[in-house]
Amino acid sequence: MTNKQHKILILGPQGSGKGTQASILANKLGVPALSMGALLRDAATKGGVIGDEIARIQKMGALVPDEVAGEIFRARILESDATSGYIIDGYPRNEAQYDVYAALDTPTAVIVITVPHGVSVQRLHDRAMKEGRADDTVDVITRRLQIYHNDTQPMISHFTERGIVHDVDGVGTVEDVAARIEALFVEV
Ligand code: AP5
Repeated sequence: MTNKQHKILILGPQGSGKGTQASILANKLGVPALSMGALLRDAATKGGVIGDEIARIQKMGALVPDEVAGEIFRARILESDATSGYIIDGYPRNEAQYDVYAALDTPTAVIVITVPHGVSVQRLHDRAMKEGRADDTVDVITRRLQIYHNDTQPMISHFTERGIVHDVDGVGTVEDVAARIEALFVEV
């Protein structure tokens, strides 16, 4: 679509489709899609003290320690496929992570996908039926959404001040939402 360097953050409440849309946009822009949740799930499968702790925290829907998330992000963007750009969903998610991120890199754009609460809950309920993800239970979904509203949403103001935030309506089909996001990156 473009040869410009892209370092794009995708944020939004749980079930807004940030992981789904990160993959689609990454394919279009020719950069890797990084998912902090998936990177952490990978780390959890390796076990050991840290892996077991990550698995425990993810299952209860809390954030893993900021220093763990920061170190995973730092290491991932040093890999050769990410040096000329990336799309990451789910990072940073609070003030402390913003500080770590800002010391490491500068985003070219931040996409915030918005959906009503009921849409989040319905999509995650549907995923629980199909995939059985350990953190897609009613109580844990509620906790994850609370963290988004209390910690992540206020943090986004740092990017808003720089004029790089694009709010995208996440209601509709995957293709509808992808088209809205793609429209942001079509060069005139
Ligand atoms: P993470 O894996 O990032 O989960 P999340 O933030 O809870 O987000 P979800 O995956 O639930 O939703 P999404 O918006 O990505 O939507 P998706 O595309 O998947 O994080 C999991 C955990 O890891 C956290 O709770 C925390 O413990 C830890 N963690 C992650 N980041 C961290 C950080 N920075 N610091 C510390 N800890 C961290 O879609 C959801 C479902 O909806 C799918 O089934 C999908 O197929 C479907 N769907 C998507 N779009 C549509 C559509 N348009 N129409 C219908 N269905 C759709």
